[in-house]
Amino acid sequence: MTQQATAPHLKKHTIWQSGRTPDPCAIVLFGATGDLAQRKILPTLAHLIHDHPQPETMCIVAFARRPLGDDGWRSMVLESLDKYMPEDDKLDDEARQAFAKRLFYCQSNFDEDEGYQRLKQLLEKLDKEEGTGGNRLYYLATPPDTDVEIIKSLGKAGLAQPEQTSQNGSNGQQEKKSWVHIITEKPFGHDLESAKALNKVIGSVFHEDQIYRIDHYMGKETVQNIVALRFANSIMEPLWNQKYIDHIQIVVAESLGIEGRAEYYEHAGTIKDIVQNHVMQILSLTCMEAPADFSANDIRDEKVKVLRAICTLTPEEVAERTVRGQYTAGTMDGQQVPGYKQEKGVDPNSTTDTFMALKLYIENWRWADVPIYIRTGKRLPKRSTEVMVQFKRVPHQLYSKDEISGMKPNRLILRIQPEEGISLCIGAKKPGAANDLSSIDLDASYKTVFGIELPEAYERLIADCILGDSTLFIRRDEIEESWRIIDSITSAWAKMGPETVYPYAAGTWGPEEANKLIERDGREWVNP
Ligand code: BG6
Repeated sequence: MTQQATAPHLKKHTIWQSGRTPDPCAIVLFGATGDLAQRKILPTLAHLIHDHPQPETMCIVAFARRPLGDDGWRSMVLESLDKYMPEDDKLDDEARQAFAKRLFYCQSNFDEDEGYQRLKQLLEKLDKEEGTGGNRLYYLATPPDTDVEIIKSLGKAGLAQPEQTSQNGSNGQQEKKSWVHIITEKPFGHDLESAKALNKVIGSVFHEDQIYRIDHYMGKETVQNIVALRFANSIMEPLWNQKYIDHIQIVVAESLGIEGRAEYYEHAGTIKDIVQNHVMQILSLTCMEAPADFSANDIRDEKVKVLRAICTLTPEEVAERTVRGQYTAGTMDGQQVPGYKQEKGVDPNSTTDTFMALKLYIENWRWADVPIYIRTGKRLPKRSTEVMVQFKRVPHQLYSKDEISGMKPNRLILRIQPEEGISLCIGAKKPGAANDLSSIDLDASYKTVFGIELPEAYERLIADCILGDSTLFIRRDEIEESWRIIDSITSAWAKMGPETVYPYAAGTWGPEEANKLIERDGREWVNP
């Protein structure tokens, strides 16, 4: 499933890495009747199973409070599939029914010991009757305040570790050990302390290699392409450092508002909703050193080193290098939209940030003195995520000011979404006798070049988790390093007055102060 429905001329992508065959398994969904599960996870699973058939069984078990039973749960899911799968990507009736047969329901409160025993019995029954092989994937699509309860209960019920299978099966052959994995959704904690506490709890029940902390940006094809661009091309590495790069801009712009999520967003703001996770992931892939190989831990070792090299900001640095904003009423696509404070459920005196601009430095040899500018917000003029790498000017300019007046600096733009692709801006001489230079964009769209639909981020991540590959998931130390940086900003913001939350009209690129932040350095934002 693609975020926009697949164009008919595009070929299907593959989802199981290098043709690997997934093991049979039971996926246990906590929060199964909630919005995330119904809108996103279940349609993704239905699509995964339908479009990338597996030889082995996969069952989906809901562990939820409502008294539904298998039949009620199946009808609920079928309704959600009808509602949330894209119009031209719906399952036909046969496929819907086949998917429904894989759904099972275990009714329980999250704090009910007997509920976990019932779950255990159901899973054992599925192993016997459906052949799920003792493999379990627990998916916590739950409000964060319930995570600890669920994790501890799974441990207490003896559900957190795989069944010990004998090393030698009855026929003398080595038997494969079953596995248990757990996916946790964001937010993973709300600050460093809470993230550490959650890591401690989850680490006391599951081993780190069983834990899959999801950040859906890591499932985006174009985010993974940052690594390919950097490490599969010999022309990039010599340029990818402070000698040739002037600065980097990362923009995560959204045209949507908060979409009825006031309760969550009021506490998060854009800094915790987007910067702590998605931006930090893009940043670390863009700036990391080459890993020894592509194993999950080698890649994550390099990513976390980037975060470690970002210093904790002092309050003075926060005042100087960050700008927060909040949208007021404005016009988007010709439609009048309300301001943040008028959104349902938002405190009329709220100081929550819906926009943030930030300048960071990575203090290591590669990136010394190269500013990384970050801009993200809701209700910006368009939805777009990009990394823009701006190169330094030539060391000695042979052309006159007039001759190069129409030329922009060399820029490499990695377009993460939409229109996924890459663009390189270079200078060229216009035809004619005059030395008149102009900029041209060498542009490639991944869809056009490859003619393959891009996989939906969740589909890729769930598939990788079933295969036991945690490369695209966030390791304990990454989460904690990222919160360390974010905490230094939020704790300084907490002491700054509400007048430092600058208003910007919906449909604009944020408050004027954000422009000043970059213009002070003699640079400018490059809008997607
Ligand atoms: C989520 C945030 O993590 O990412 C949302 O909670 C945001 O507020 C969303 O809208 C953006 O994701 P995408 O894939 O649409 O860029």
